[in-house]
Amino acid sequence: MSYSALSHLDCPRCGARHDADVVQGTCSCGSPLLARYDLGEVRTSPRDIAGRPPDLWRYHELLPVRAARHVVSLGEGMTPLLALPRLGRALGVPNLLMKDESLIPTGTFKARGAAVGISRAAELGVRAIAMPTNGNAGAAWSVYAARAGLRSLVAMPAAAPAVTRAECAAAGAELYLVDGLIGDAGRLIAAAVAQRPGYQDASTLREPYRVEGKKTMGLEIAEQLGWRLPGVIVYPTGGGVGIIGIYKALRELLELGWVAGDLPRLVAVQSTGCAPIVRAFQAGATASEPWPDPKTVAFGITVPNAPGDFLILEALYATGGTAVAVTDEALLADQGAVARLEGSFICPEGAACVSAVRELRESGWLAGSDEVVVLNTGTGLIYPDTVPARVPVLPPSGSIP
Ligand SMILES: Cc1ncc(COP(=O)(O)O)c(C=O)c1O
Ligand SMILES: [Zn+2]
Repeated sequence: MSYSALSHLDCPRCGARHDADVVQGTCSCGSPLLARYDLGEVRTSPRDIAGRPPDLWRYHELLPVRAARHVVSLGEGMTPLLALPRLGRALGVPNLLMKDESLIPTGTFKARGAAVGISRAAELGVRAIAMPTNGNAGAAWSVYAARAGLRSLVAMPAAAPAVTRAECAAAGAELYLVDGLIGDAGRLIAAAVAQRPGYQDASTLREPYRVEGKKTMGLEIAEQLGWRLPGVIVYPTGGGVGIIGIYKALRELLELGWVAGDLPRLVAVQSTGCAPIVRAFQAGATASEPWPDPKTVAFGITVPNAPGDFLILEALYATGGTAVAVTDEALLADQGAVARLEGSFICPEGAACVSAVRELRESGWLAGSDEVVVLNTGTGLIYPDTVPARVPVLPPSGSIP
């Protein structure tokens, strides 16, 4: 049995089939490409997986890297699936779980897409990658590129979390700040890539393998529940690569027969300050309109125009899911609630999922008996400024009241 069961790439829009063993971007029709596997050839069982090291490469048959020696790893994956009993009771959803991506290299789930994307790019002979980012993906791709010996070119909004800038710089990325949004950074990167032979554009869904890395969140949730699926998965959606990946993972697991039953209802969470997917979902549309003047403290989900919008919406409709927008005020309050009740300092994007659970329970969309998994996509440590810590400063000669 080969290390990877990858067979080809296909276009989810026009159906065209593409060779997976040469460097590919998007389809000629403009759509992202998705990796397909010979799942019927996979002889591995969940029991075999259980004996493998605790990182995302334990699912290597379902990942695109053809040879184990091409794996570039910092130990990513198998993050905890934590019960949140006190928060769950407070929200009226006692079976509340959190997939906690704060315990992963670089502190966000972006490490998954970077590990798989960089490994496969290097395996196909790519020597340099280029990408626009809201910060976290740039940091992750920079460190994995460094580990693989690849060059990286990154552009991010000047307002992106400062620590991600430091991480790119430390890893030796060629980094530019843009006085604008991620779309502006994307235009600059596309123009630079056109001038620089050998650079691969690794923007969201412009190469096929980042989504394969993010898919492993779905594989892990199923494995950690004993190869069973939860009722609902709640995901903070920007470009939507994570939710597209989770949906893809769960369908592959069904096809393999490793899980059975209904797919979880998938919930895309956005901010009221940038909610193009929520608006499209509410209109019953299959594509979104660009969101004017996007703004939220949950910086990772400030994506006004997602190229994979139709894939996100398909995942919501096909699973009987929904889309919810929450305010910054609500998500900041819930960031505090999670820390106080459960001892976990989560990122604002993860906190948005908690606010969405609160809303969906109040509206009755969630029942008290539902088993709900929220994704905390990163550590709160990346965004120290979102939590005001007003504390007294004492002189050395002072005393504590
Ligand atoms: C912490 C965090 N959460 C969520 C997202 C959204 O990711 P996706 O592209 O999977 O929607 C991002 C993207 O930058 C992020 O940094
Ligand atoms: Zn196509």
